[in-house]
Amino acid sequence: MYSRNVSSSLISSVCHTWSTQSTIQSHLQVQKAQFLDPSTPTKPKPSLEHGDLMSQDTEGEPCLVVCTVKDVEGNAIDDVKVDIWETDSSGHYDVQHADRNGPDGRCVIKSNKEGILWFKAIVPVPYPIPHDGPVGQILRLLKRHPWRPAHMHFMFEKKGWDHLIT
Ligand SMILES: [Fe+2]
Repeated sequence: MYSRNVSSSLISSVCHTWSTQSTIQSHLQVQKAQFLDPSTPTKPKPSLEHGDLMSQDTEGEPCLVVCTVKDVEGNAIDDVKVDIWETDSSGHYDVQHADRNGPDGRCVIKSNKEGILWFKAIVPVPYPIPHDGPVGQILRLLKRHPWRPAHMHFMFEKKGWDHLIT
């Protein structure tokens, strides 16, 4: 599953432009599939209050994340549902650990009246995508390395607004 999702994402990035709405939707679906945990009814992603801790990884470097959700004119947007996920300090998402017993390094939180949301996490780390199959062949042809820079994913949802995934 890990390889398939990453392969799809890379191939999507290489082959598609952002020229059509359907292409954008397709790319969003790929990004969404990439480690956006479906969770389960018995193990839902935690909904956090502002200031709560999102990661249980004690090896990670603590990090305070403060965000403001704004429109293109700089006006704050309240009540935005923000889905957030990141790897642990080893560069793996929780779904990549066979022995995991619940979600970790992910949460859902809403922006407040000032468009602000804040939570505690760990400093993101870089990680390599699997590059032993077709993805590796493409990377070698393109003279690209498999490393993704340290990052945290955000998915923003609010009725009446475009859906955005980073
Ligand atoms: Fe990622």
